Amino acid sequence: MINIALPKGRLGEKIYLAFEKAGYECPSIKENNRKLIFENAEKGVRYFWVKPSDVSIYVERGVADVGVCGKDILAEYSPDVYELLDLKTGICKMAVAAKKDWYDDGQTTLKVATKFVNCAKAYYASKCRDIDVIKLNGSIEIAPILGLSDVIVDIVETGTTLKENDLEVKETIFPISARLIANKASFKFKTSEIETLEAKVKSLL
Ligand code: PRP
Repeated sequence: MINIALPKGRLGEKIYLAFEKAGYECPSIKENNRKLIFENAEKGVRYFWVKPSDVSIYVERGVADVGVCGKDILAEYSPDVYELLDLKTGICKMAVAAKKDWYDDGQTTLKVATKFVNCAKAYYASKCRDIDVIKLNGSIEIAPILGLSDVIVDIVETGTTLKENDLEVKETIFPISARLIANKASFKFKTSEIETLEAKVKSLL
């Protein structure tokens, strides 16, 4: 049995359809209910819907053998997992954004609001820029508008949220896409099952 953690939401549903096409179908997952665990014993597959930012925790701890999560989560939390495959979906980027008329004069400590504290610290450390990180949990875009921060470090997908809040991208930090990840012990003991799954999914990309 392969245990797969998928991110709850639109991306996860898209990924499930790819896994289904690859031969890992689990019809009960399409039932409209609030269940979070689905199994198809015949296909030897069990799916869990988990919060996107928690996928790597389930995989790192071995509750899930494999999972799908964004490069942003891998960069932020550095989980001890194998990154097997770039699924080339869920494309977006990590970026610095600010009010349109804002520019960095480089004089004072930069106030940075973000959910991605480690990514922000690493990025500004690489530029030798002093920052004061303000950790937020969502709606990051309002921080510079209300004067809580100078800039934000956040995910930009379509750019609509920034545009509608009169902000713009100032710098791109790194591109993001969904990745297939595996638990290290699972990969050792279920090598052929996991490599077969990886190959079948890869052939669909
Ligand atoms: C993410 C991100 C931006 C938005 C970007 O937010 O933090 O707010 O998506 O997408 P866009 O460029 O297509 O507008 P999410 O939906 O995860 O909500 P939250 O961060 O406010 O919780």
